[in-house]
Amino acid sequence: MRSSRFSCSDIENLRSELKADSQAVPFQDFGAGSMGNTSTVSGIARLSLKRPKHARALAALTDHLKCNAALELGTSLGLTSAYIARFSKLLTTVEGNPHIQRLAQSNLTRLGVENVRSLSGEFDTVWDAFGDSTYDLIFIDGNHRGSALIRYAKKSLTMLHTNGVLVCDDIHWSSDMERAWKHLCSMPEWTLQMDAFEWGLLTRNQALKREHMCIRF
Ligand SMILES: C[S@@+](CC[C@H](N)C(=O)[O-])C[C@H]1O[C@@H](n2cnc3c(N)ncnc32)[C@H](O)[C@@H]1O
Repeated sequence: MRSSRFSCSDIENLRSELKADSQAVPFQDFGAGSMGNTSTVSGIARLSLKRPKHARALAALTDHLKCNAALELGTSLGLTSAYIARFSKLLTTVEGNPHIQRLAQSNLTRLGVENVRSLSGEFDTVWDAFGDSTYDLIFIDGNHRGSALIRYAKKSLTMLHTNGVLVCDDIHWSSDMERAWKHLCSMPEWTLQMDAFEWGLLTRNQALKREHMCIRF
């Protein structure tokens, strides 16, 4: 792995530890693809989290945006949260499974990450707790159903800084998600729409022309 200032060896050491942790986690189904078929810390760490290169890419995007406030829907074990938080003034992150949320809090404490507001609850139910903040980055990484993605993206519009970026995870995970992504791209609000395969990025930044691009990395 090439080293960059977005490489976080302490987070990756913790990831290795979690991949070997056979502790059982009570399963709660919050949405398509929420936990795969697993119910151990090891399974979640192996299957549910953004891989290191994608976590580094998110960290780089957070840094580029000079994030004052970021929002993550879907904390899981908190590793990607840690990457984002390291390059943002504050991260708000939400996890529906209280057992997983407690594990995430303990992981963030171990990593010495203190600028995280960790919320427990179903996304729509806790939405009001996101407050009046304007977020520079919103990362939707939970409940991979097309209708849910569209709903979260539309609700995000009022909270997203005009130059902010909405990152929609797993846009090619299913035909339902692909349809939702196409629908989002057709909305007049967005200028740049970027398909990076792993996720789709949308911004309303008026300095950018309305354009749809695909990148692979
Ligand atoms: C793919 S994982 C998140 C991975 C994490 N962002 C990372 O990269 O490390 C999705 C998480 O979102 C949670 N989740 C899914 N749908 C949810 C919902 N509707 N409300 C609250 N939590 C939800 C699941 O319990 C799961 O832990």
